Amino acid sequence: MRVLVTGAAGTLGGAVLPRLVAEGFEVRATSRRPRSGAGVRWVVADLATGEGVTAAVSGVDAVLHLASSPVRRTHQVDVLGTRRLVGAAAAAGVRHLVYVSIVGVDRVPYRYYRHKLAAEQVVAAGGVPWTVLRATQFPQFLDALVRASGRLGPVIGDRAVVAQPVDPGEVAEQLIELLRTGARDGIVEYGGPEVLRFDEAVRAWRQARGSRRPLLPVRFPGGFGRELRAGGLVTDAQPAGRRTWADYLADTYGRTAAR
Ligand SMILES: NC(=O)c1ccc[n+]([C@@H]2O[C@H](COP(=O)([O-])OP(=O)(O)OC[C@H]3O[C@@H](n4cnc5c(N)ncnc54)[C@H](OP(=O)(O)O)[C@@H]3O)[C@@H](O)[C@H]2O)c1
Repeated sequence: MRVLVTGAAGTLGGAVLPRLVAEGFEVRATSRRPRSGAGVRWVVADLATGEGVTAAVSGVDAVLHLASSPVRRTHQVDVLGTRRLVGAAAAAGVRHLVYVSIVGVDRVPYRYYRHKLAAEQVVAAGGVPWTVLRATQFPQFLDALVRASGRLGPVIGDRAVVAQPVDPGEVAEQLIELLRTGARDGIVEYGGPEVLRFDEAVRAWRQARGSRRPLLPVRFPGGFGRELRAGGLVTDAQPAGRRTWADYLADTYGRTAAR
């Protein structure tokens, strides 16, 4: 099967590509800049401008659409860019387009999520057999969030927010399974093995890093905070991943024991 992976140089792409290659898929991968790598044919494509998109989808059987721009030009990339990609895929006769979205895009009032939800709707209406996989947060994202919110000293966050980190390697395995089983014309969810409160996650992070940064609790306001505290980012979908936050911390920082 010939598969195009968009956003292939990102966190999830880095987990998807070697697994696709190892399983014998013929892999084409997009980035906005020229890249090379064993077993993968890299092509340049920009969803915001449309450059290279038609050529990228030409001749492939399936598309794994991972590209996203959470902070800048989100509507242009995620919504309009997805529309360009789906239109090109329909014209090229692609048989399955899998779009990676996020658990909670339909519940949590947040600008990026509104665009992801709109992109899901573009995919569903686009005329290509489709599946949306909504995943929970990757531990790399949670780690970066804790580091960023602690850059002034204490880690600042709402301790009652709950998250369910999922290993991108396990998400990659689910995506490959979806390619094998075919389009569902529907949405599936996939989450990590445990639901953690933010203060629990920060405690484990501090132990793993040997950090003494205290948690400075704030309460996220409005419907955004309410949804995050009420579990808007978590799913009880089965199967779920197996790798825990502690596994990630041990692999990344080499220790988990309390100090
Ligand atoms: N991170 C999480 O915790 C998480 C959780 C659940 C779901 N997801 C979803 O999973 C997907 C992958 O996430 P990720 O964390 O791997 O993202 P990432 O590391 O930020 O990678 C996204 C990729 O999108 C590409 N991109 C950005 N603007 C583009 C444009 N104009 N045209 C074409 N490509 C563009 C970039 O590739 P180049 O710079 O090489 O062009 C980048 O490598 C996203 O859809 C995200 O919403 C993420």
